Amino acid sequence: NDAPIIYADNAATTQKPLSVIRRLSNFYAEENSNVHRGVHALSEAATAAFEDSRKIIAKFINAQSEAEIIFTKGTTEAVNLVAQSYARSQLKTNDKVIITELEHHSNIVPWQIVKEQTGCELCIAPVSTSGEVLLEEFEKLCDERTKIVSFSHISNALGTINPVTELTKIAKLCGAKVFIDGAQATLHEAIDVQKIGCDFYAFSGHKAIGPTGIGILYGKLNLLEEMPPWQGGGDMIEKVSFKGTTYNNVPYKFEAGTPNIAGAIGLAEGIKYYSTIDLQSAKEHTRSLTKKCEELSSCISGLRVIGTATNKSSICSFIIDNIHPNDIGTLLDQQGIAIRSGHHCAMPLMEKFGIKGTARASFTFYNTIEEVEQVFKAIEKARKILA
Ligand code: ALA
Repeated sequence: NDAPIIYADNAATTQKPLSVIRRLSNFYAEENSNVHRGVHALSEAATAAFEDSRKIIAKFINAQSEAEIIFTKGTTEAVNLVAQSYARSQLKTNDKVIITELEHHSNIVPWQIVKEQTGCELCIAPVSTSGEVLLEEFEKLCDERTKIVSFSHISNALGTINPVTELTKIAKLCGAKVFIDGAQATLHEAIDVQKIGCDFYAFSGHKAIGPTGIGILYGKLNLLEEMPPWQGGGDMIEKVSFKGTTYNNVPYKFEAGTPNIAGAIGLAEGIKYYSTIDLQSAKEHTRSLTKKCEELSSCISGLRVIGTATNKSSICSFIIDNIHPNDIGTLLDQQGIAIRSGHHCAMPLMEKFGIKGTARASFTFYNTIEEVEQVFKAIEKARKILA
């Protein structure tokens, strides 16, 4: 729309550094080959690059071993993998799965499917009016019937940063297994799965300056080894006969079919890029963006921020009296600004706040204070037009 673009839709997907784009392009132009399947040099090089990526990702989240990293299409597929492989094979009627009101549909629906399949109970831990999980209520729900607790690290809709180590500790006291949806967290928090103590952790490449169609599931090795395969196909087998099939070792047991090779390599390239920046400064910078959002949103008449947790990432979800969020999105777009409006795949959370959706501006480490100022100037302009 003849205005310089301001990209404030980072919670939906992040932009990619040139190094990632070039890595993908080089892979397809110069190195393209399948993995784990060829004795030729190209296949060996592709396999080495693919497996190196697994190592880089393992180090990034401090997994004990690269065998604990399973490549998936993204966070959604990772939740479904755990739900269908671990939960479906373990849960019985009377067992409990606990999630929270903050969850994205991808951390709700897979558990509803498991509930249908196993007869287990699905319990929802409530959040406060500021969008924080009520720890006492969460603790009350956790009991000896609780087998799985699953929650997001950071809410995509509100930006709440959950106290994941504390929640994990509470869940562990009743012997539950803990799954964390880290889709929104990779660029905001240093991830240390061992320190958090969770059993499973997942994130998507595209929200972490990597490509779309790639993500990972981290799982503790002993659990992954016990879990039955989810999808059948090439690479996940050891030996196939019509009498029966034996399965490959972890992580390959969960990687049926040709994986997203370029995606995995591109994701690792994104992590390499991210590792070259000063993470402390990046964190301070995004914190200053969050503060700026808070300051400027309070100056707009009729604007109500949805999600006012004390510990928040740089996501500003809001509504303005008598104005549809989509109209705000459209008027911002006309000024060259990309935000998301709608329910953000978190319909139950919107219902909790008694709204259909919000307008959501989401920033990350490469956004500037000036961009945040421009966004709020544009919001004020849209408000005036729409009012
Ligand atoms: N889950 C993504 C979002 O929050 C797509 O926009």
